[in-house]
Amino acid sequence: MTKELQNNPPLACVILAAGQGVRMRSALPKVLHQVAGVPMISHVVSACAALSPETMVVVTAPDMKAVQDAVAPARCAIQSKPQGTADAVKSAKNELYGFKGDVMVLFGDTPLVMPESLNRIRKRRRETGASIVVSGFVPADAGRYGRLVTDDNGSLLRIVEAKDASPEQLDIELCNGGIMLFDAEKMWKLLDEVKSDNAAGEFYLTDCVALANAKKWGCAVEEMSEEELMGINTRVDLALAESVMQDKLRARAMLSGVTLTDPAATYLSADTKFGRDVTIGPGVVVGPGVEIAERVTIRAFCHLEGVKIEAGAIIGPFARVRAGSEIGKSAHIGNFVEIKNTAVGEGAKINHLSYIGDASVGARANVGAGTITCNYDGFRKSHTEIGESAFIGSNTALVAPVSIGDGAYVGAGSVITMDVPPNTLAVARGRQANIEDWAARYRDEQASRKKDG
Ligand code: UD1
Ligand code: MG
Repeated sequence: MTKELQNNPPLACVILAAGQGVRMRSALPKVLHQVAGVPMISHVVSACAALSPETMVVVTAPDMKAVQDAVAPARCAIQSKPQGTADAVKSAKNELYGFKGDVMVLFGDTPLVMPESLNRIRKRRRETGASIVVSGFVPADAGRYGRLVTDDNGSLLRIVEAKDASPEQLDIELCNGGIMLFDAEKMWKLLDEVKSDNAAGEFYLTDCVALANAKKWGCAVEEMSEEELMGINTRVDLALAESVMQDKLRARAMLSGVTLTDPAATYLSADTKFGRDVTIGPGVVVGPGVEIAERVTIRAFCHLEGVKIEAGAIIGPFARVRAGSEIGKSAHIGNFVEIKNTAVGEGAKINHLSYIGDASVGARANVGAGTITCNYDGFRKSHTEIGESAFIGSNTALVAPVSIGDGAYVGAGSVITMDVPPNTLAVARGRQANIEDWAARYRDEQASRKKDG
């Protein structure tokens, strides 16, 4: 932590997420809809975590167990009825019992906030001594946002919700972005004074500003960008947030030493980890839980999730690598190959048209074109073991559970149902019969039949 941040008082973050998000038209709570492969609220939790708060509380509705699970180990508080943002913060009072310092209130549906901007809000409070610092922004369309009423010196006097605003107030361009930083002790006092005598009949957190000014406690605004403060209310907003987030992730990857041949056609997850000198071709989708080490090449049109890929490996084009997999150093996974829950050893090759699932493939093994691990019998999944330097001939079915020993060979077209000991050749297919002159006899026979008929 820098010296500057050490001067800050202890911090508690309260993330409000009790709203249902009706406009998403979804059975899933709004904050669980994903941006860059993780629930949108996880982005807010990560931004808060970067500030090293003493505690973090997420406020949910009573029936939102899935949200509570998603934000664990953050603590959760329940707001029994959605009576407004002030009431939502009050629901976190028990969780914050005895806490002294600053409380930052954020919304779970504003996933693009950056820790740097949250730190600027803290800095503003430290520098001005204001009891409340509010995030302000000038949106292209102020619409339903609360308007920030300031005096000639730019001090914040009060926040007027759009529903309650006069026509003159609606002309104010500076709006409330939703993030507010309070002195904890003063916040609890102000919250007790908030009333619900407004157009929505709700307890507005934003009313704290006028109440603080009446006590001469002082309030300030810290401006942020519209992009960062964008709240998600519909699936159209969700798609926009996804594209903004993808651009950020792509830029971050490229600046850390990753070549993206066509950045706009590369999709990353918030948790994607890269080593240096990774190259990613066009049309690649990197789902959650992927770690890619240095000098790995991912060729065009691959789909990856839940996989650790070690240095120098080559994947694709057109490969799908699924969760629970590990691809060893310099291994090759080629076109139209699907790998699931499989550890592939160093230098192993699975280059064409295969399904390898619930398996381990030893170092330097060569798995021929069209090899299938038959891992499912309709009831349970079973394991296939392929030893080091083993050679699996093309079009082989390995019926699990089964093990192929180190250095063993399997003849092409085999259906392997029994273990193959090390260094052994296994062939499991109909034996070939060559019948001499058969073809000539057949042709003569057919020709004379045609003449007679
Ligand atoms: C709020 C602000 C408005 C600001 C805007 C920025 C208030 C009164 N208004 O308006 O000034 O411009 O955000 O996006 O604060 N929530 C609860 N419990 C409730 C009500 C809301 O947890 O009882 C949560 C919601 O889940 C959401 C957040 O609080 O995450 C904001 O609520 P929302 O209804 O979206 O407020 P806005 O009308 O957008
Ligand atoms: Mg909102």
